[in-house]
Amino acid sequence: MARSMPQASPNQSPTQSLFGRLFRYSLAVDLGTANTLIYTGDGGIVVNQPSVVCFLKQVVEGRRRVAAVGSEAKQMLGRAPGNLEPVRPMRHGVIANFPAAEHMIRQFVEMARPRPFFARRAAFTICVPGGATQVERRAIREAAVAAGAWKVNLIDESLASAVGAGLPVSSATGSMVVDIGGGTTEIGVIALGGIAYSGSIRVGGDQFDQAIVNYVRNVYGVVVGEQTAEHVKKTIGSALRDAPEQKMCATGRSVDDGLPRTIEIRTQDVAEAIAVPLRQILVAVKAALENAPPELVTDIANTGVVLTGGGALLGHLPRYLANELALDVRVADEPLTCAVRGAGAAAEAGLLDAFVYE
Ligand SMILES: Nc1ncnc2c1ncn2[C@@H]1O[C@H](COP(=O)(O)OP(=O)(O)O)[C@@H](O)[C@H]1O
Ligand SMILES: [Mg+2]
Repeated sequence: MARSMPQASPNQSPTQSLFGRLFRYSLAVDLGTANTLIYTGDGGIVVNQPSVVCFLKQVVEGRRRVAAVGSEAKQMLGRAPGNLEPVRPMRHGVIANFPAAEHMIRQFVEMARPRPFFARRAAFTICVPGGATQVERRAIREAAVAAGAWKVNLIDESLASAVGAGLPVSSATGSMVVDIGGGTTEIGVIALGGIAYSGSIRVGGDQFDQAIVNYVRNVYGVVVGEQTAEHVKKTIGSALRDAPEQKMCATGRSVDDGLPRTIEIRTQDVAEAIAVPLRQILVAVKAALENAPPELVTDIANTGVVLTGGGALLGHLPRYLANELALDVRVADEPLTCAVRGAGAAAEAGLLDAFVYE
């Protein structure tokens, strides 16, 4: 009875007119708080860049000019000279700065366009957090239309992630996916091609980074930047305090004399620093298990929980959650790209809540 999910979507349906095939194509977009990815049936993942855009401060003829987007703009965060303004347009999975989001999407879509020769218009399938309000959804649609979309479909991020993780979403058996992104954690219980329960909290990798910044300032008296904190988290981070010890050096500014100081940070420091946001994620997963339909919870007890999103790569996270939940917990293959690959595949399988702009 389970409908099989396509792994990758062919770009156009054979019934499209020649005009349609030349001038229209489809894209799946994961507009994340930390990273934006674009997937096309032909090219696979064609854009995978940090969600950052850097503006020039001076306004020319009433318009703002973009100095850089993506990785180049991310490097400028926290170190830009006075004439540059790096911005992260997304916060907690939704648009926080509309003009910046519009510029960023337009630039990324330009990079993804298969044949720049033709001014082709794309149908966008965009992942949105389950907790996004109608106003936030509309903002995402409008930004996509401004970037040249002729049609916009929104897909719940949990469903997209589950499809991308290869879970049997169309089957009657329930599965649970926990997507830990930059600014949100999305929890979805999925069965029969839809979302039976979804939960979303505004806690993700950014909150881990901020917790590390606070911890290092309080314990070592050194102020480090968020990018340094993120680097520490990715290199020696662990969800478990009793993980094997690793150490690394980090440089920041001493609170005492304002001068640069290098300190040694241990795995245990990171585990302690992130304990609070980590527990918030655990509590949200427990709440989902308590509130999801009982039959599906029984299924999840057998099939376990799948983690996606960049936060899933935190050291020893599956073991931490498995210990606390007494369930199997595993990380999906390529967790950072699950949502966008799943959105592309789901668009082809017709699992979408369509919204059409002509
Ligand atoms: N190895 C890692 N360990 C811990 N966190 C990681 C690792 N790799 C990436 N991350 C975190 O994952 C988050 C980005 O995940 P992503 O799924 O791209 O988020 P979003 O969908 O919100 O853009 C960032 O907070 C980043 O620091
Ligand atoms: Mg995401």
